[in-house]
Amino acid sequence: MKLRAVKGMHDILPDEIGRWHRLEAAFRAMASRHGYEEVRTPICEPTALFVRSIGEATDVVEKEMYSFQRHDDELTLRPEGTAGAARAYLEHTVHARQAVARWYYLGPMFRGERPARGRQRQFHQAGCEIYGDAGPACDAEMIDMLVGFLRELGVGEVDVLINSLGSGDTRARYRDALVAHLSPRRDELSEESRRRLEKNPLRILDSKSPRDQELCADAPTVLDVLADDDRAHFDALRRYLDALGTPYRVDPRLVRGLDYYTRTLFELRGAGGELGAQNALGGGGRYDGMIAELGGPATPAIGFALGLERLLLAMSPDAPVSAPLAYLVPLGDPGAVACLVLAKELRAHGVAAIVDGRGGKLKAMMSRAEQRQATLTVLVGDGELERGVVTVKTMATHAQEELPRALAARVLADRLASTERQH
Ligand code: HAM
Repeated sequence: MKLRAVKGMHDILPDEIGRWHRLEAAFRAMASRHGYEEVRTPICEPTALFVRSIGEATDVVEKEMYSFQRHDDELTLRPEGTAGAARAYLEHTVHARQAVARWYYLGPMFRGERPARGRQRQFHQAGCEIYGDAGPACDAEMIDMLVGFLRELGVGEVDVLINSLGSGDTRARYRDALVAHLSPRRDELSEESRRRLEKNPLRILDSKSPRDQELCADAPTVLDVLADDDRAHFDALRRYLDALGTPYRVDPRLVRGLDYYTRTLFELRGAGGELGAQNALGGGGRYDGMIAELGGPATPAIGFALGLERLLLAMSPDAPVSAPLAYLVPLGDPGAVACLVLAKELRAHGVAAIVDGRGGKLKAMMSRAEQRQATLTVLVGDGELERGVVTVKTMATHAQEELPRALAARVLADRLASTERQH
């Protein structure tokens, strides 16, 4: 039997990891600029946590969870990060110490969906959550931060959709209105939507079937039934986004697949061709009821998650792929000593360096340096040793020069660092 990776779960090999590191570093930098701190929670949680928070009638809980039993515990590989973060927030009574907590996380998530381009069974998310702030200012700031982040990454056109699901009994009232609208035409709905009509009617608005969409076209929207305070929250959000110059479009049919949302809901869709049908780059919203639902004090919350695989597909291809690297090639044994010492000095200056001690023809060594995507190659043979210099080749331009050995580490480290800054 041939052993292969699990279907829908992928290896990320070293030649791709540079883009991941850069994306993750950019996310961390953006999150900390906005006052978020990292949280790391376990990769699996009690199954009941996801059932209670995400909702029994959602696709994620009904069909997609990787659940298993171990030592009498029912466990599930996390399908998303919000539930685990909320559990940790509660378990460590963070609310008692901090009025407002801003957390971020990065890591693998698991959903047993049908694999496709941009849809895996193990995928990676980067997300943020804010606990303890009910005001629409943080909704606006979060959406604006996301839009800015996608721009910074060079993601081309992005559609920003927002909606409000209201709070309290709005969702239930809307649900009733939608069921009342669709029930007389039940037989015309797709099989999936007929099933949803009983269990989770809001999701019918998301249906891909053209006939379902026609039937929903003149359905009431949730914005029609918003209570006054929910409407005021939504209006303020729009005002703030306008003031920030953040582009957005109100989509009163935006519902999203998780049941915990209240009030603000948003999704960012990429228009780039690379993404195909899986064009949701990220999304989120308020979930003001979840912490109380999990047994804690009433605590407003809002968050989002980005899909990193999809972001990598949508990012501009000229985004840098690997960090600057010095490739040191000794020609003969005394050269090896000089290269080992110089590499150590370069690393002490904070830049990456590799010594290729395998020997062989100069041409073969140079092509190995190219394969490794080195920025600079440093050659040290007997001639260089006699003259007290090293030969430096800049790979992008093929320019060659000699530098005094004593200055080489500092000069090369500066040069490599400035290559990094240009990226
Ligand atoms: P979500 O919309 O289910 O929200 O997922 C967020 C993003 O994760 C999606 O927009 C997509 O980019 C990516 N994603 C989801 N499933 C897959 C998959 N099978 N393959 C590849 N990428 C995928 C959440 O997960 C919420 N926890 C967001 C949130 C945080 N809401 C409040 N706080």
